[in-house]
Amino acid sequence: MIVLESLWTLVKLIPLPAVVVCETLATADAPYNKHRTLRRIIGDAAARYMANTFSIPQIRKLSGSTLDVYTNWAVKAKVPLVVDEIGGDAKLLWIGPRRLERVILVVHGGGFMLPPMPAHLLFWDYVRVELEKKGLTPGVVFLNYSLWPEATFPTQLAQLCRAIKYLTAAGVQPSSIQLAGDSAGGNLILQLFSHILHPHPAVDMLVLVEPLRAAYLISPWVGLSGETASHDENDKIDYARKESLIWIGSRIAGDVPEEYRAFAQASKAPEGWFTGVDAVVGDVLVTAGGSECLRDDVLIFGDMMKRVHPKTEVVVQPGGIHVDMFMDFWAGETKVGMLTPLILDRLLAGCA
Ligand SMILES: *[C@@H]1O[C@H](CO)[C@@H](O)[C@H](O)[C@H]1NC(C)=O
Repeated sequence: MIVLESLWTLVKLIPLPAVVVCETLATADAPYNKHRTLRRIIGDAAARYMANTFSIPQIRKLSGSTLDVYTNWAVKAKVPLVVDEIGGDAKLLWIGPRRLERVILVVHGGGFMLPPMPAHLLFWDYVRVELEKKGLTPGVVFLNYSLWPEATFPTQLAQLCRAIKYLTAAGVQPSSIQLAGDSAGGNLILQLFSHILHPHPAVDMLVLVEPLRAAYLISPWVGLSGETASHDENDKIDYARKESLIWIGSRIAGDVPEEYRAFAQASKAPEGWFTGVDAVVGDVLVTAGGSECLRDDVLIFGDMMKRVHPKTEVVVQPGGIHVDMFMDFWAGETKVGMLTPLILDRLLAGCA
């Protein structure tokens, strides 16, 4: 059975080169590809094929666990594994040395169903190195959280709370913690804010003595239902397509009881739900790609956040697709998109 499945996965890879060549030829002149190199356009075509050909279990099998992705990265980068067991089926995986003076805590995306991509690790290691060049040495650490279907809401919320408690108990000031989350990782950071403002009874309270320094929500997955116009507009461009987003979203949202809907679907939270969030986190950056399906959900949420948090910045990357900044690293592209220097700049300010 396992052998057959692996064979089937291999068979599905056979058309990849031909599909990539055709897609690249067909899209190279498209307006959204205007600023992209050929290497990046090829990378996007491959991502689109893989994301829409393989099932979630197949992608999980190809990627291995979060720890496997981390270990593979560390071996290639020739750096030691630095892993903290924090209980509750969660771990902290350090990208580089464990440094506790300032911390960037990364919550990876993947629809709560997938581990991080290798590109996630390459990106955050790049960030670490770029900050070091500026004389800043924050610790950069990934949260290893449990995935669906083994774990459901609010397991991952409890794991993120646990990570923050672990860091503060180790001496990190909340004002020295910057939180970064893409896609489902952004969703989880917003669950954390919801929990601080409206504690979930099944999750231990998280009381912070001061606000967290900043939150970076990169293409955050805030709607889960795929209803907004950008889902139709960009379905033929983005690799994270409407149908898959709806399929994944309905599974994740389906596990969230009605009274906690705002935790998992921030863009649908009732008016005033996030009031007080300016006392939870200092600065908020929300980004989206202009050519991604999730764009309009992100913009609805961004407006909501601006009404309650004056230090919210919303930036749309023209032509950008879902979590575009990682897709440069997926393609092995060294010419990074406009959001990368922007987020570096904000992270740098957040280290001051
Ligand atoms: C880490 O992540 C994997 C998913 O990649 C998950 O199965 C596991 O439960 C998580 N926690 C630990 C402690 O490994």
